[in-house]
Order: sequence, then structure tokens, then C-alpha cells
Amino acid sequence: MHLLVTGGAGYIGSHTCVAAHAAGHTVTVLDNLCNSSAESLARVERISGRRPRLIVGDIADRAVVRSVLDSEKFDAVIHFAGLKAVGESVAKPWEYYQNNVAGTLVLLDELRRHEVFDFVFSSSATVYGNPDPANLPLRETAPLAAVSPYGATKLWLEEVMRSMAAADPRWHFLLLRYFNPVGAHESGLIGEDPSGIPNNLMPYITQVAVGRLKELTIFGNDYPTPDGTCQRDYIHVCDLAEGHVAALAKVRELPGCTAVNLGTGNAVSVAQLVASFEKAVGRPLPHRYGPRRPGDAAACWADPSKARELFGWTAKRNADDMCRDAWNWQSRNPNGYRGA
Ligand code: NAD
Ligand code: UFG
Repeated sequence: MHLLVTGGAGYIGSHTCVAAHAAGHTVTVLDNLCNSSAESLARVERISGRRPRLIVGDIADRAVVRSVLDSEKFDAVIHFAGLKAVGESVAKPWEYYQNNVAGTLVLLDELRRHEVFDFVFSSSATVYGNPDPANLPLRETAPLAAVSPYGATKLWLEEVMRSMAAADPRWHFLLLRYFNPVGAHESGLIGEDPSGIPNNLMPYITQVAVGRLKELTIFGNDYPTPDGTCQRDYIHVCDLAEGHVAALAKVRELPGCTAVNLGTGNAVSVAQLVASFEKAVGRPLPHRYGPRRPGDAAACWADPSKARELFGWTAKRNADDMCRDAWNWQSRNPNGYRGA
């Protein structure tokens, strides 16, 4: 297939380019590089021997999107482009609605004009809001709720796609709800490279381990979980990338709009992830316990059986693999792609 991958220079996008190449697909990336660098695609070439064509542009720029779609014929789109920081979305909601919602509407409009109807969307477990423990593990039928402007953008876009598919049977939408992507390609050439101080657990851990940050604060140890720290469904980014390739193989067979969880089905606590990381690195990680972070759910993990049934896909890598590969990436690239 010839794939248009928006946001393909980013963390999950670059790993998906590698997996798509391994499956024999050709990739064109449309990315405005607002949270990434073209270096990630140079690294993709070092891994897979092929470099995706990069068009530097914004999904909200209709002239750019139109010229990309005029220039080549695409079989399907994987849409990663978007802003993704929950806290930032609370401070800058308009930017999130403009970038994620308005941008995606432009993209979808141009796709229908160009009759490209197979679409894989980066959704998120955030659409389940702060889940009721009675609904764990989360199935795709669990109640949906937005607890941040970021979450609202994912929920609204899912709704846009559901109604567009209901109105026009030519569309095939897969809404892939990622749980907590972590880790890096085993080569250590590509990985997560957040700008500023990381909000998320794994990049915070790796930056402490490499000496960029002093110590990890574990947010809360009084949750109603086995060790008192929050539980999440961490998924290795390469499993996630392979999940996209498995989904692409089925996108045209599945009618309308289908939401599918991509997770491992395992609940791992913050304390357990820290212990796995210490094992991977072979030394203790400086950390202390602090107060809860406002808005955090005690526990959130997936029932991934629908992905297995529909795509024949299951995650293969465990928490030790995730920690080993995250550390391999960070220790080889202490400043991420900067300095490359
Ligand atoms: P990322 O920031 O590394 O990648 C997003 C890419 O999109 C970046 O390269 C950025 O430059 C690009 N981009 C952003 N806005 C754009 C625009 N208007 N036009 C063109 N390019 C634009 O993030 P990621 O972790 O790879 O996430 C990819 C997608 O997966 C996002 O939609 C995110 O919301 C979703 N997601 C991520 C996580 C996670 O924890 N990483 C979890 C659930 C869902
Ligand atoms: N945590 C710490 N210390 C830190 C950072 C995080 O203890 O310095 C804890 C959090 O309190 C939470 C766990 O680590 O218990 C995971 O936190 P992350 O920020 O890594 O991930 P979240 O589960 O909060 O959020 C992620 C994505 C969101 C997405 C959500 C649901 O960042 O975009 O999963 O998919 F909405």
C-alpha cells in the first residue's frame, strides 16, 4: 500500500514507518515538525533501508493537504498528527481544538474530495475518562467521557468519524485507542524525545537515569491498588506500531467505523515499572513518593481481545522489554535527536 502518515516524524509515527516498511508498504509523511525533527526519519532509513518522503506542512493548511493528495495516489491514511499533552490542553484549549479538531476536519474533507476513504485514527484510552473500576479491563463498549480538552478532541473526532461513516458507506474508519505507549525500537536509533520536562512517566524515568533530572516523584501511594501506586497498561511502541500494520490489512474489510483498544491487557503499577527499570539498568533509580497528581485515575487497563479477534494482533513485549529498550534509546541519545 502507499500510505499517507500524518505526524509520521513523531514518536509513534516513526516506529510505525519502520513497521510499515517491514510489511512492504510505501510511506509519505506529512508533518509540520512542531514536536519532532526530520532526524527521526533519517533514523528510520538507517533501520529499514528506506526513507519516507517527508512533506513539511500542517494538516490544517488546505493548500498543502490538497497538493499532497493531488501529487500521489494513496491507499490509506494513518493520522497521528496532533498535540497530545493533557496539562497543556487545559492551559491552551483553543490550540488543541484548532490543531486537532479543525486540522483533522480539513484533512477529512480533502480526503473525501480525493476519494481516499481508508483511515486509521490515533485515538486514546483517554476517551474512557476516569474509568469506573467496575468496567476494568476496559472493553470498547465502556462508557466514554472527556476529562480534558485533549480528551475532548479525541472523543469529538471519534464522533465525527462515526457519523461520517454512517452517512457514506465508502468510509472505513479504525479508531485505535492506545493505552500507554512506552519504549523504543530495539536498535536504540529512534525513541521518545519530549521537549522540556517530560509529563509522562517513562521519559521522566529515563531522564533521571541519564542524569538530566534529579529524581522521580511517584505521584501517590495511597490509591486502592495492590501497592498503592496507579496502574496503567503500558504497551511497547513497537507492538503498537505492528498493531497499526495489522489494522491496515483489515481496514477495508471492516465496514463503517470501528473502535479497537491497543493495549497489553496487563495492569502494571508505577512502583512495578520503576522496579523493572532498575532491573534493566542494573542500579537503583532515585525516587520518592509525593502527593497524588490531580485528575489521575487509580487504574486503567485494556481488554485487548477485540484487536486479537479482528486483526490477529496481540502485544508480544513485556514491561522488562519496554524498560530495556527505553533505556537503550535514552542512554545512546541522552539529548534525544538534539545533538544528532
Ligand atoms: P508526537 O508529538 O511525537 O507526534 C505527533 C506528530 O504530529 C509530531 O511529529 C508533530 O510534529 C506532528 N503534528 C502535530 N500537529 C500537527 C499538524 N497540525 N500538522 C502536521 N503535523 C502535526 O506524539 P505521539 O506520541 O507520536 O502521538 C501520536 C498520536 O497518538 C497523537 O495523535 C496522540 O494524541 C496519540 N496518542 C498518543 C499517546 C501517547 O502516550 N504517546 C497515547 C494515546 C494517543
Ligand atoms: N507518574 C508519576 N510521576 C511522574 C509522571 C507520571 O508517578 O513524574 C505516574 C502518574 O501519576 C500515572 C502514571 O505515572 O499514575 C502514568 O502517567 P503518564 O503521565 O505517563 O500517563 P497517563 O496514564 O496519565 O496518561 C497517558 C497519556 C495521555 C492519555 C492517557 C490515557 O499521557 O495522553 O495515557 O491514554 F490520555
